[in-house]
Amino acid sequence: MRVSIIGTGYVGLTTGVCLGFLGHKVTCIDSDEGKIALLRAGKTPIYEPFLTELIAEARPNLSFCGDYSAIRDAEVAFIAVGTPPSTDGSPDLRYLSEAARGIGQHYVGDFLVVVNKSTVPIGSGNWVGSLVRDAYEQHHGRKANGNFSVASNPEFLREGTALHDSLYPDRVVIGSDNNRALQVLYSLYRPILDQTFTAPTYLPRPEGVGAVPLISTDLASAELIKYAANAFLATKISYINEIGQLAEKVGADISQVAKGIGLDARIGTRFLQAGIGWGGSCFGKDTAALVATAREYNLSMPIVEAAREINRRQRDRVVEKLLGELKILKGRTIGLLGLAFKPNTDDLREAPAIDIARKLIERGCKVKAHDPVALDRFEREYPGLGVVCCDSPEEVADEADALALITEWQDYRELDWEVMASRMRSPIVLDGRNALDRARLERFGFRYLAIAG
Ligand code: UGA
Repeated sequence: MRVSIIGTGYVGLTTGVCLGFLGHKVTCIDSDEGKIALLRAGKTPIYEPFLTELIAEARPNLSFCGDYSAIRDAEVAFIAVGTPPSTDGSPDLRYLSEAARGIGQHYVGDFLVVVNKSTVPIGSGNWVGSLVRDAYEQHHGRKANGNFSVASNPEFLREGTALHDSLYPDRVVIGSDNNRALQVLYSLYRPILDQTFTAPTYLPRPEGVGAVPLISTDLASAELIKYAANAFLATKISYINEIGQLAEKVGADISQVAKGIGLDARIGTRFLQAGIGWGGSCFGKDTAALVATAREYNLSMPIVEAAREINRRQRDRVVEKLLGELKILKGRTIGLLGLAFKPNTDDLREAPAIDIARKLIERGCKVKAHDPVALDRFEREYPGLGVVCCDSPEEVADEADALALITEWQDYRELDWEVMASRMRSPIVLDGRNALDRARLERFGFRYLAIAG
């Protein structure tokens, strides 16, 4: 099928590359010429494992373009542009409406499925449809009689495992009020639904993955599924973090508690990792949007609001724990291990590290930091924060009064912690992700602080 994808961020690029790999003819469109030039040269604007490899493999079916010309005869157009939060917390839909108008102006065929892949507020499908039709009518001077149908196809990929999640999803959700549009999307995703493609050697099909369940539903339900899924996962993390606080008081081990409850299949072991809580571009934004949408209908969402509050508190706990241990923070040197909001990405959006660094600096600390991948981005995006960037974890340890593990990169688990201790002013480590081997660290003389339990 001929597919256009507008927006080459995590979602758009991953979707485009995967569909190209499956044999569809894909054009990835982005107004950022720099990104397009990079992609044409076989490079990627984001860090995502195996993305360059898959781009190389899908290359015969992929093109990258700075304008909307490919929309002309497309069969499916995905809108995967950013919907960043505006100052009042509601998503900024400027790029979404630009994309919708661009589609309407450039399309000349009989039937195009316009797919909302960006996380859009519930009800946006209808709005996008009217923008596309208005732009078509203004540009072509004739009515858009059934030329367009809008569908929602929410994305469930996680950064860092984006390609794996796209090729081997737990489910595919498509929503539209038009049956023909649903049929088109069904055909598009057939190789994934039936798992008939040959898996790339570097992304082998996990054992036991068979046919992928398809949820084919109406537009509003598909839009709500996305929010409800993210809010549930965010709540699950906040729940374990709340239990973690009690675990600490009663002397229980939160990792054991998480395992003990997670092995109940009704609960599940995933997303029960206690720590400093969630960051990233999705959970914070989507839970805020869900609460805001409910408010428009005079509904409150106390569970989701509590999940947000607990997540905020976890970041304060880092400062409180360090204060409790060091007694005075003013003039102390604190080393942060990890800046990205989670491992295997260089994404810093809503990263707890930023908040924590800011709070510590406000308290008069000198903050040093390292990240295996996100350091360059951090230096570019936060030049005024006042954090001293270090090229190695050992450099962070030099003369530090305490270290805080913020992102659980594998490299940090495997550090020579004996050497780390020897370089510090006082060997204190706050394990913000409950990811380090406490007994081993204590053997090397560390005072080990857990964030929970
Ligand atoms: C999340 C969802 O997991 C995806 O399904 C969804 O498609 C995506 O948002 C989106 O809406 O685009 P992502 O934000 O990439 O994906 O990353 P996650 O792996 O979900 O992690 C989010 C945050 O939660 C990270 O800061 C992570 O460190 C934290 N986390 C995760 C925990 O604190 N504990 C856990 O047990 C799991």
